[in-house]
Amino acid sequence: MSGGDLATPAVRALAPYVIGKPISELSRELGMAEEDIVKLASNENPLGPAPAVLEAMQRSLTEVWLYPDGNGHDLKQALARRHGVALNQVTLGNGSNDLLVLLAEAFLSPDTSAVYSQYAFAIYGIAVQATGARANVAPAHPADHPMALGHDLDAMRAAIDADTRLLYIANPNNPTGTWNTPRQLEAFLDAVPPHVIVALDEAYFEYSRRVDCPDGMQLVARYPNLVVLRTFSKAHALAGVRVGYAISHADVADVLNRVRQPFNVSIPALAGAQAALAEQEQPRRALRLVEEGLRQLQEALPRLGVKMYPTAGNFVLADVGADGSAVYQKLLRQGVIVRPVGGYGLPRCVRITLGTAEQNERLIRSLATAMGKG
Ligand SMILES: Cc1ncc(COP(=O)(O)O)c(C=O)c1O
Repeated sequence: MSGGDLATPAVRALAPYVIGKPISELSRELGMAEEDIVKLASNENPLGPAPAVLEAMQRSLTEVWLYPDGNGHDLKQALARRHGVALNQVTLGNGSNDLLVLLAEAFLSPDTSAVYSQYAFAIYGIAVQATGARANVAPAHPADHPMALGHDLDAMRAAIDADTRLLYIANPNNPTGTWNTPRQLEAFLDAVPPHVIVALDEAYFEYSRRVDCPDGMQLVARYPNLVVLRTFSKAHALAGVRVGYAISHADVADVLNRVRQPFNVSIPALAGAQAALAEQEQPRRALRLVEEGLRQLQEALPRLGVKMYPTAGNFVLADVGADGSAVYQKLLRQGVIVRPVGGYGLPRCVRITLGTAEQNERLIRSLATAMGKG
């Protein structure tokens, strides 16, 4: 018997999360310079953090011999002010991913169930499965629906049973880019029984302002079972330092803080996030870049026979009409990294992060070659 065999049956059955291929890895494989590789695979913001954010992190480096403030007081206070909540309603995470997992640890056990949608962000399934809880996966909207592949909130409501303790909604969802409107979300929250915690994942909130997507923070006071998650990884361009947060009722935050590691957010992350919060212009620039990128792709991709799904994020799900993983491989050979989504049950698609105009152009040219239309 190997050590791995001693893991719980639930953990042994887990398939690991597939990350976007790192630039350094492809560089080694192809012998191509890292500068010549374009990565549009992890929904990162190519503008990078604002200069004041970089400076704040730089300044914080003199303190890294100390443990960080385990209560994250200053950042929490800034977040509480921003969202008009009390300090004890804020929980900090090592990225919002950390909080998605803490929610599962706090609310799930093998005799409970959790609900999420087909095609939902893959971490939900992994977090749930690791606890041994049952996953009630609700079918997504079908292909002929205006929000094809999106969360069907009626189906999610129907998937709740007496054992359900946790339900995840990604708004917008990754990898589909789909979203639910404020009216749909509020009607849903009214119908969810009080024994279920609703984790509303708004990782792409800043980008979702383009469409009729709700601001979950406005709903926290009304629904004591609602947890809204945000991150500094996407529009704030701090993916590499790992910091996200949850706003919820104080009772829920209290429980999350019991399972949280005491020093889960590092000193540079605390400093960077706090400085990023003061930046009004940087997320707006990120949104403008996405709007421009979308226009660029919308003009070019249909001509290559590629169908783009509507998106509220900084990425698009593209149906290449053929084997998505083969197209992914052909793009890799040209130094362009996108994300294959066969593991999500979307074998004809790839997910493309919207980059700079230059990166998008390179993607378009490489895609044309990959599809035999170059
Ligand atoms: C929907 C969604 N939620 C959460 C995350 C986690 O982001 P982070 O842990 O960097 O905050 C991601 C990252 O890709 C995401 O797409």
